[in-house]
Amino acid sequence: MKTTVVDHPLAQQALTRLRDQDTDRAAFRSAMDDLAVLLVYEATRSLRTEPVEVTTPLTSTTGAKVAEPPMTVPVLRAGLGLLPGVLRLLPDSPTGFIGVARNEETLQPEPYMNSVPADLGGRDVLVLDPMLATGGSLVHTCTILRDRNPGRLVCVCVLAAPEGVAALESSGLAEELVVGSIDDHLNEHAYIVPGLGDAGDRLFGTA
Ligand code: PRP
Ligand code: URA
Repeated sequence: MKTTVVDHPLAQQALTRLRDQDTDRAAFRSAMDDLAVLLVYEATRSLRTEPVEVTTPLTSTTGAKVAEPPMTVPVLRAGLGLLPGVLRLLPDSPTGFIGVARNEETLQPEPYMNSVPADLGGRDVLVLDPMLATGGSLVHTCTILRDRNPGRLVCVCVLAAPEGVAALESSGLAEELVVGSIDDHLNEHAYIVPGLGDAGDRLFGTA
């Protein structure tokens, strides 16, 4: 699995706003939106383009457009925080939704929704989930997707713990991980440290 840590200064600035416990909900959503754009820029580097003719005010020339936009799959709830920024850059991308809640006692993923088509026809998929902690939720999501004839599975995360990166890597399910930071460790409640807290709660309030 190729792993890219996006250490661009603007990405690190947005991530710092997300980490700050004094960032309120509106500012948290806005920082997540900024970071989504920077992460998807990296995550789409290898997309194929096709030539298109374009007329400028001066002449005609050949431009480019993305040949087949990837499907975007936000992992509910927190993945929704990344979706608007991603769809701004990929407006023709179809979106499927996977709902998984981590059971905070067993740490096992509990699925509650899946609207991904049965056959993806080889289309690449961007899996959006801000937090890769134990890896249970993303491995569960990628297992579902891998059964549906995808192209490349690229996971887009804000933060990861080393334990989550290792779990995703050893699952062999995803071709690529694009992430804002690989943090230090998981605490005794399997929260990422230093982290940013509970991403879903900070975006949408306590579930
Ligand atoms: C969070 C997060 C990931 C998961 C990461 O979601 O958005 O999906 O936990 O933990 P893991 O790697 O140990 O599985 P959560 O289950 O809290 O649901 P939410 O998005 O609805 O808040
Ligand atoms: N889920 C979160 O939202 N944050 C963590 O640190 C771990 C799991």
